[in-house]
Amino acid sequence: MNAKEPLWLCMGSACHQRGVYDILPHLQRLLCEHQLDRVIELKGSFCLGPCVNGSVLKFRETLFINITPENLRVRFTMEMLRHLKAAL
Ligand code: FES
Repeated sequence: MNAKEPLWLCMGSACHQRGVYDILPHLQRLLCEHQLDRVIELKGSFCLGPCVNGSVLKFRETLFINITPENLRVRFTMEMLRHLKAAL
């Protein structure tokens, strides 16, 4: 069985202040809903760089910025899902 690919969540202080800990359980649920939890593993990261645009997620070389608990579901389905399905 291949190792799961990491989906990095920035746990830096700016992203922390912008709600990354609220994003985490919702993101885990979305991965399960789309059966991506079999191939993708959520991992915490040190600062990913664009702190003023937190919260920040990274999959492979793609950064997803300005993620909030409120916009996560829309951003996930409209934007992130296409990238994440590359792991299937
Ligand atoms: S603290 Fe998240 S990008 Fe810097």
